[in-house]
Amino acid sequence: MNVKHQASFASLSGSRRISWLCALALLVFTGFHAVAAMAQTGATIRYDATTRIFRIDAANTSYVLGINENQQVQSLYWGKRLGADDTFPAAKAMPEAASFDLPITTTPHEFIGWGGGLFVEPDLKITFPDGNRDLVLKYVSHRIDGNKLDIVMKDISREVYVTLQYQADPETGILRRSADIENRTDSPFTIEQVAAATWNLPRGTDYRLRYLTGRWAGEWNVQKQDIHPGKTVLESRRGTTGAQNNPWFAIDHVGNNDQDSGPVWFGALGWSGSWQISVEQDQLQQVRVTGGLNAFDFGYRLQKGEHFQTPYFYGGYSAHGIGGASRLMHRFEIDSLLPHAPTPKLRPVLYNSWEATEFRVDEAGQMALAEKAATLGVERFVMDDGWFGQRKDDHAGLGDWYVNPQKFPHGLKPLIDKVHSLGMDFGLWVEPEMVNPDSDLYRKHPDWVLNFSGRPRTEGRNQLVLNLARPDVRAYVYGFLDKLLTENDIAFLKWDYNRNWSEPGWPAVAPEDQKKVYVDFIRNLYSILAELRAKHPNVEIESCSGGGSRVDLGILQYTDEVWPSDNTDAYDRLLIQNGFTYAYTPGVMMAWVTDSPTWVNQRTLSLEYRFLSSMQGSLGIGANLNKWTPEDFATAKKMVAQYKSIRETVQRGSLYRLITPEDNSEQSVTESVSRDGKQAVTFAFLHSSRELYPYPRIYLRGLDAKANYRISALDGKLAKDTPDSASGAYWMNHGVDVELRGDFQAAAFTLEQAGAAKAGN
Ligand code: DGJ
Repeated sequence: MNVKHQASFASLSGSRRISWLCALALLVFTGFHAVAAMAQTGATIRYDATTRIFRIDAANTSYVLGINENQQVQSLYWGKRLGADDTFPAAKAMPEAASFDLPITTTPHEFIGWGGGLFVEPDLKITFPDGNRDLVLKYVSHRIDGNKLDIVMKDISREVYVTLQYQADPETGILRRSADIENRTDSPFTIEQVAAATWNLPRGTDYRLRYLTGRWAGEWNVQKQDIHPGKTVLESRRGTTGAQNNPWFAIDHVGNNDQDSGPVWFGALGWSGSWQISVEQDQLQQVRVTGGLNAFDFGYRLQKGEHFQTPYFYGGYSAHGIGGASRLMHRFEIDSLLPHAPTPKLRPVLYNSWEATEFRVDEAGQMALAEKAATLGVERFVMDDGWFGQRKDDHAGLGDWYVNPQKFPHGLKPLIDKVHSLGMDFGLWVEPEMVNPDSDLYRKHPDWVLNFSGRPRTEGRNQLVLNLARPDVRAYVYGFLDKLLTENDIAFLKWDYNRNWSEPGWPAVAPEDQKKVYVDFIRNLYSILAELRAKHPNVEIESCSGGGSRVDLGILQYTDEVWPSDNTDAYDRLLIQNGFTYAYTPGVMMAWVTDSPTWVNQRTLSLEYRFLSSMQGSLGIGANLNKWTPEDFATAKKMVAQYKSIRETVQRGSLYRLITPEDNSEQSVTESVSRDGKQAVTFAFLHSSRELYPYPRIYLRGLDAKANYRISALDGKLAKDTPDSASGAYWMNHGVDVELRGDFQAAAFTLEQAGAAKAGN
């Protein structure tokens, strides 16, 4: 066996870093069980040299793959953790079922090149300069390094190497997969299609797919559909993640209606550009999920000696239903993915000016709002769009990142000082990748936008997309942001992105290289974010894209929070937030309390209802405080204080969807249990009561049956005969009644652990 790669521990987080000595020990291969174990972290990777089988065990998951007789890397098992001594027969390619479906098509591959008669979705398709497009990859070598496995494959005749990369998360069992493609031939070739990985499910015909769809102001709809023969394609061709499909999937068995039981296989891509996940049931009823870059309009010319690293495709398994799958995702994001993982800061309560003033920001107006926000217990004051260039509305100014002298004659300093004097930190809105044609920047550099020479440039919201793949554009964007953060005491950037691509041309480079823009743009975006964070380590960043159009596990490696939707109607938000949490943690989900009637639906909702809806995520306030009554201020102040007492549980705890608002449900109930199990907080909402029916009894989950919990209402709506305190068993089995009647009603209560329950429990 060749050991081709240098060990790299740089990407392991501090707590997971293993010593060199330990690493060396792990690299001693001992024949039958060439074992690299990380018992201290709960992830092991083993290789059985006799059967040529790899086994990855992490948390409650086992993942097994092998090298078959054709030297292909074949999937063998993905699911609940198996017995430590269980053995597996060697991988064997499927027999030729019919001359129309050769073994290459019906064998479940971990990663397969397009060639040799393959008809299912390939992971990699290459065109060579001589016109050859056949790629047949065979196993060459592997390397186990702690919780990482690399498997090297090579084309049967050409010097094309592909390294399949696996990294197991010891806490959640989530696997991070990707591929590195290396051109060791003598000439460039073009990658026309490339996935990070393929996941194969156990054979079965009763699978159901969940995925997320949406649009502006209507993001995060959970779709459910049975998987039938054929292919379902989830994708974005927009140059960015998009809200229309989010790069996440989950698969369980048809008819499982319990949120917290049953097997679920799930995954998500870490990529903020055009992407594709295809879910395919093949001719032999096998289900495979292939994900990576979108092949549409794509081509990446890889020069001799170059590598191409795909994005990551994360995948996990839960035996505890879709609720369990979400909890694993949340835990993974908080502990392993976010910029400050495993200890990201709790989200501060913020105020944002957008819905109050829109573009009409100025020094006096923002100071007045800041004064009012501070009285509520707000911790961060964010000035939104309108502060720069000649920005009066959305027709002008993007690209000109100087402070507007009419609105802020003394620069930003007086406002920032004022905000600090009120005990808050200061945040600012930017939209770095965009330009209005009516801007000095565009007048000077019309060639800086995505465009095809001589063709119209389609505007969206009166703006064009800067080609961030260009080195000069990258330098400009990094430069102005660095200057802004160096010259001003700014703690937070709200990084917006308000349209998708059109005419994605890059005339400055050779025609054969223009389609690289789909990759180089995103890589530059990530590198700007990384560089800014390194230089300004205390600055936090929110990913916003006209709402939730750029939320994915790629951008979340560089941003601390996201804006899920411009729709701030607190009732609509129940559905939006519900869908969001299938894939992403409430710990990054910003939720503002805004004015009523809402601009979205002209719906009137009480301030309490609006707060309780937002308190399910990371609380913000986006209302026009100039219009609030003293009673509003008193209510808000009380609720902000309440939020602070439960936010750690909401942002870091385990989320249970007790009643989902899906399928036009009249009710919606969520419960979050803190990591130490000592606090639980439950939010209950009612659309409208009917015919004297009581609100359904709420049965809690995830409590310690044997511990005692004291119950307190956040708003006095518990049924009168609710005991003050009872065992976890009582709250989970007897349940809790809340008195909700009428239209758009809400209640919330906490359970605080107070010792062990009495004997008999
Ligand atoms: C879209 C964002 O989603 C809003 O919150 C706001 O920041 C506007 N852009 C400002 O133009």
